Amino acid sequence: MSSTNRSMVRNEADYYRTPVIEIERFLIEFNKLYGYHLNYGNILDPCAGGDEEHTMSYPEAIKAYNNDITTIDIREDSRADIKADYLETDCFGKYDLIITNPPFCIALDIIKKALDDVKDGGLVVMLLRLNYYGSKDRKPFWNNFMPEHCFVHHKRIGFTDNGKTDSIEYCHMVWRKSYYPDYTKLKVI
Ligand SMILES: C[S@@+](CC[C@H](N)C(=O)[O-])C[C@H]1O[C@@H](n2cnc3c(N)ncnc32)[C@H](O)[C@@H]1O
Repeated sequence: MSSTNRSMVRNEADYYRTPVIEIERFLIEFNKLYGYHLNYGNILDPCAGGDEEHTMSYPEAIKAYNNDITTIDIREDSRADIKADYLETDCFGKYDLIITNPPFCIALDIIKKALDDVKDGGLVVMLLRLNYYGSKDRKPFWNNFMPEHCFVHHKRIGFTDNGKTDSIEYCHMVWRKSYYPDYTKLKVI
């Protein structure tokens, strides 16, 4: 595949790389609250990313805690173990923790499927724009599925190799299956 075609496929798949250091920053806080899931759980990254030049960001950061992580990605040039559309992949009841930075355009479908797939009491963690909370379309979802915690990154995150950031704040939202509070606990990290 030519590099032009490859970059078109990547853009269509909404491929942006999360800096490992920002995931590590989040995992330090996450580990204090949810250490069992992080250290001993079966983990899935359903949109794992990576390519010939870059590792998969979440597995790279998580390996300091746990090596039991399955990876899926739709792109053939990703480093994931399984090349597939997660939305079409049967993962029901297999994982204690599903964690990723999902493609923005299908993020809600990925979150809903992950909440369905994860074991009872399991966790779903997604990197999202902070303003993801604000949407008429998503209001019915928030009415029923508020996350337990929201970790807001105080530093703006850049998703390209040149390190440039845009003017968007990001957060890691943490849902615990079957426990959807009225109010999310928020911490700035
Ligand atoms: C925003 S990128 C994040 C990549 C990686 N998780 C990271 O944080 O660096 C989203 C990833 O989802 C993949 N993707 C897009 N649609 C998908 C789908 N339906 N199923 C699985 N992976 C998908 C893309 O190929 C891309 O690697």
